[in-house]
Amino acid sequence: MSIMWTPVALSRDVPPLVVLPVVAGGRELALWRSASGRIAAWADRCPHRGMRLSHGFVRGEALSCIYHGWSYGAAGNCLRIPAHPDLEPPETIRVAVHVAAEAGGLIWVAPSAPEAPPPDPGALQPLRSLTVEAGTAAVLSLAGLAGDTLARGHLAGVEVTVAVQPIGPARCALHVLTGAAGAAERIALSRELDALRRRAEAGEMAA
Ligand code: FES
Repeated sequence: MSIMWTPVALSRDVPPLVVLPVVAGGRELALWRSASGRIAAWADRCPHRGMRLSHGFVRGEALSCIYHGWSYGAAGNCLRIPAHPDLEPPETIRVAVHVAAEAGGLIWVAPSAPEAPPPDPGALQPLRSLTVEAGTAAVLSLAGLAGDTLARGHLAGVEVTVAVQPIGPARCALHVLTGAAGAAERIALSRELDALRRRAEAGEMAA
């Protein structure tokens, strides 16, 4: 089976020094950006005692676990164990690292390097992301959007491209991009997205 990219966030929503939990391909990941702007997606599990790295903190180019402060460098290798400051951490202590890339204002992740770069949504502006407690197919059908990872169509009379992130059988996230430049259009589109979420979560079916 070919390896697929999954969109997990708008680039602008993950500024330097931020770490947050995301789900891609059924895996829980800690998505974070270093001080220099490097994006990374790691298994959301500290090699020490399995606590969530997404609760951790970024300092410089390293992510540290909030629980006992073990810190990990760009390759997922353990850099420091505060309880043993003189110890050189063994190479075997490593976080499982996924591939992360940015394209078209979106952050994409994959379990290992896909053959092709992430899909390019074209010259569009990011609008917002929203999580919907409903399955991907039902949401796209209700919205009248066509496509798979990048679904396209019109909402509130405005052309949109939606990067679709399946999270579970009854949950997905939509990362919405649009060519609409005016504030009024963007507000109307955002309201339409909120209405779409309410209808999808109420179990409304496409006509
Ligand atoms: S669980 Fe992460 S440092 Fe202990």
